[in-house]
Amino acid sequence: MSAHHTRSPPSDSHVRVNRKFWESGSDEYDRRHRKALSGRHAPTWGLWRIPETSLRLLGPLRGKDVLEFGCGAARWSIQLARQGARPVALDASRSQLRKAQTLVKEAGVRVPLVHANAERLPFRYGQFDLVFCDWGAMTFCDPYRTVPECSRVLRPEGVLVFSTASPLRSVTFDPRGDKQSRTLRRPYFGQHRIRDSDTVEFQLPYGKWIDLFRANALSVERLVEVQPEPGQASSYLGRDDRAWARRWPMEAIWRTRKDATPTRPRRRPSPRPRRARRG
Ligand SMILES: C[S@@+](CC[C@H](N)C(=O)[O-])C[C@H]1O[C@@H](n2cnc3c(N)ncnc32)[C@H](O)[C@@H]1O
Repeated sequence: MSAHHTRSPPSDSHVRVNRKFWESGSDEYDRRHRKALSGRHAPTWGLWRIPETSLRLLGPLRGKDVLEFGCGAARWSIQLARQGARPVALDASRSQLRKAQTLVKEAGVRVPLVHANAERLPFRYGQFDLVFCDWGAMTFCDPYRTVPECSRVLRPEGVLVFSTASPLRSVTFDPRGDKQSRTLRRPYFGQHRIRDSDTVEFQLPYGKWIDLFRANALSVERLVEVQPEPGQASSYLGRDDRAWARRWPMEAIWRTRKDATPTRPRRRPSPRPRRARRG
């Protein structure tokens, strides 16, 4: 993985790049992480699989209309259906959705699967009580497109929860060593589109995230800055990265709530962030 900030082209090229990756990389991803994502490990969050039962970010689920936003094999949605929610699981990768289809069938639960780009949701205004993802579409899509879409499909007082990288992670990432460093390598301000060797991810400075939420009638209720336990294993990262994450936040989980009487969401809250130069 060699991440660097790049110019944001006005096209949907990141959707194409990411879809290609998840179509071809889905089997390998599933082989590597299946154990960490399955059974008693679901539903758990992020790189260190912190249980939802300890973080309690989603709130009550029974009878709630839930959208999993970049669901992969839909393991989260299957568990939420078992807990009485009515999840819909969306992903842009057919390969990921094929895995989801098999698991949903095996589980014998009802989870409609939707093949779509998360930046253009095929749902009407106010259809869901909860939109969430665990390193899903909020990581791989432009937040200036996804946050307005999430707000649009949420009911008033609905909740958006998502885990992704922290803004500090990309600033300190060492592409040569393929690991976190203790050096500020790239500008914090202006970060937005982050080109990896295989995928395109997105990140914003904290202030820009909050401006974007507010411009779309969402208020921050919690920001969990994940700190792994000493010795905690991860199928995604090794010991050095764990030592780093014990000292600095590598991962963030946001919980936001839509206003009770939202004004119509604006497409863009402000001019696009200034383009970041390659670091
Ligand atoms: C790291 S996986 C997360 C899924 C699941 N939480 C997991 O841990 O396996 C990221 C998912 O985001 C999906 N994704 C990427 N870009 C997307 C887009 N534009 N629209 C919808 N889903 C997208 C990918 O296809 C992939 O399944």
